[in-house]
Amino acid sequence: MSKRDFLSTADLSRPELDDLLDLAARAKGKRPGQVLAGKTLGLLFFQPSLRTRVSFEVAMVQLGGHCINLSSDDLYELEPEEQAVMDGAAEEHVKDAARTLSRYVDALGIRSAARSGTWAHDRQELLLRSYAKYAGVPVLNLETSFEHPCQALADVLTMRENLVSLKGRRLTLQWCYHPEPKSLGPTHSILQAAAMMGMQVTLAHPLGFEVDAAVLDRSRKLAQEHGGSVQVSNDRQAAARGAEVLYARSWGCTKHWDDAEREAMVKRSLQDWRVDEALMASTQNALLMHPLPVRRNVAATDAVLDGPRSVIYEQAANRTHVQKALLMQLLK
Ligand code: CP
Repeated sequence: MSKRDFLSTADLSRPELDDLLDLAARAKGKRPGQVLAGKTLGLLFFQPSLRTRVSFEVAMVQLGGHCINLSSDDLYELEPEEQAVMDGAAEEHVKDAARTLSRYVDALGIRSAARSGTWAHDRQELLLRSYAKYAGVPVLNLETSFEHPCQALADVLTMRENLVSLKGRRLTLQWCYHPEPKSLGPTHSILQAAAMMGMQVTLAHPLGFEVDAAVLDRSRKLAQEHGGSVQVSNDRQAAARGAEVLYARSWGCTKHWDDAEREAMVKRSLQDWRVDEALMASTQNALLMHPLPVRRNVAATDAVLDGPRSVIYEQAANRTHVQKALLMQLLK
């Protein structure tokens, strides 16, 4: 049997997503036991992480397995391009690293969300896709610039726990100001997953912060197939009105992806794109979601992040449970 990777929310069919969420809910209610005893998950972090790293380690420990964590400081500089003449800084090709690691571990997780070129370059997720191509074991996307599917699984589980049925429910994905350039990963992944759940999604962002056209197109098709919709609004207040879930998150400008100074200039006048009590008051008593880390009182105020409708820590906690389900499906 060929191995199965988990690189994108779009890798899942709706029945597979439902099965995964049901398994996660069961794993949350009652620990599944040592079903992955003797298994090892290799985690490769090329960027910092708090939630992803800890929740995967905890998931593996609860299932009786182990994790090995490596950061970019531990690894040789890697070459992902095919047929590269490796006379630059890269000491090792991903092909060799992936094939070697596959002899040691049972699955590999990769976080690689750095900006390393234009959007046309980074949207290809070269490092992750190269690992997936050459590894003989399942590869999991722990966030690229393009997708963060494990986060989206936790987000959908959190919404399902709070709203029960998601079909037809109103979700606003609200762009927020952030002084640093951010990945589109969490936004792309939850957009597609919410569309697959048949939600009515409004994507709210300032002009110039459009998401990837292929992801938007795929999300609209998924929504249509599952009885939902995807709309885009450049009006933050109109987009929040009547929302049942307000999901706050900043993301980068794909047009100026390789020019952080230009992006910072474009964003200078957008500091009012912040989630505060006034914005939340215009919603339909919406849940407040954010994948974290969050810039408090920049992206969203303390009052809403610490408020009664905030489920930000439930989202973070659910990372462990959805990842346990994912690991059991891939490794058992
Ligand atoms: N949400 C999330 O992936 O958090 P970390 O960057 O801390 O892993």
